[in-house]
Amino acid sequence: MALYSRISGTGSALPARRLTNADLVTLLAERGLETSDEWIVERTGIRARHFVDADTNASDLAFKACEAALQAAGCPLSDIDLIVVGTSTPDMVFPSTATILQNKLTQAALARGEAGGAGGAAFDVQAVCSGFVYALTLADALIKTGTAHKALVVGAEVFSRILDFNDRTTCVLFGDGAGAVVLEACEHDGSGPGILATDIHADGKHTGILCVPGTVSGGQVLGDPTLKMDGQAVFKLAVGVLEDAARAVLDKAGKTAADVDWLVPHQANIRIMQGTARKLKLPMDKVVVTVDQHGNTSAASIPLALDEAVRSGKVLPGQIVMLEGVGGGFTWGAVLLKM
Ligand SMILES: CC(C)(COP(=O)(O)OP(=O)(O)OC[C@H]1O[C@@H](n2cnc3c(N)ncnc32)[C@H](O)[C@@H]1OP(=O)(O)O)[C@@H](O)C(=O)NCCC(=O)NCCS
Repeated sequence: MALYSRISGTGSALPARRLTNADLVTLLAERGLETSDEWIVERTGIRARHFVDADTNASDLAFKACEAALQAAGCPLSDIDLIVVGTSTPDMVFPSTATILQNKLTQAALARGEAGGAGGAAFDVQAVCSGFVYALTLADALIKTGTAHKALVVGAEVFSRILDFNDRTTCVLFGDGAGAVVLEACEHDGSGPGILATDIHADGKHTGILCVPGTVSGGQVLGDPTLKMDGQAVFKLAVGVLEDAARAVLDKAGKTAADVDWLVPHQANIRIMQGTARKLKLPMDKVVVTVDQHGNTSAASIPLALDEAVRSGKVLPGQIVMLEGVGGGFTWGAVLLKM
């Protein structure tokens, strides 16, 4: 018998405000910039994205996603002893969005007459669009060492807050949202559900091709606090490293691409997803695609896509699922698991 961590529930949340490409055409035209539905769809596959209102933060979206995941898992908040949030758009410089989330979940549970969830460890992971893959890898390791037993692993982002709406090459690509899973310890002989392999990496020499270079110092924002990207450099790097990470988790788990029932990739761009699927010889009908409706929600995109695939009945218990992400840093990684 061996110790595994398995996903026992998923949840997600999207802000109510939905902008189609046509809405962005109007918004950019007011700034004297030209774009079109055709350009955005052809280059990225994106048709719509959701943006938060001024009162909503990453922790609010994370809260809704976690409540849904806990309900799906049939898990009371008081059982959770670890919260890991992947985010690059935290509510505050500090404390972490994870601790703010823990308190929101606790207050809601107490208001329902249930026990709260304070006391377990809670922290953020900053790996940009690889944030959820990093967070899941950490939570899996903490569960396998017996440090934690039931975790909430979350990706939550409000990228609309860091977009430059005078830069048409980036502002059409991103959206806001959150996704969460309950990850819990289980013991079996290897035939049951659980994370089979993880693989995470970074190469800091690529910092400049995808970054928000500004910072806060002495009460001032120093530098530019909006997203900058060299799209073509990111594209080329992404397809290569995603293939490497995918092959690494398959090798570690003693599986081949033919064993994969579903690929749930980071939803950055349909052409990157198609490129990865082609390299792995996976047909696109085994790839979960939500980028058309969500845009790139950074660390939230994988758990959002996974939750939609579970709730729509695509991803089923017992199936082999590969998650893979790539993002600023440069960071990248993959997780292979059995549902
Ligand atoms: C961003 C991306 C869609 C741009 O596509 P591309 O084919 O590389 O396009 P280019 O940057 O070469 O631009 C082509 C033309 O479209 C124009 N263009 C850029 N944004 C535009 C927009 N929103 N609407 C209309 N035209 C636009 C450019 O100005 C350029 O015009 P020019 O030829 O007159 O100079 C593509 O590079 C990409 O997907 N990169 C990866 C991005 C990503 O996934 N990032 C997140 C990773 S986590």
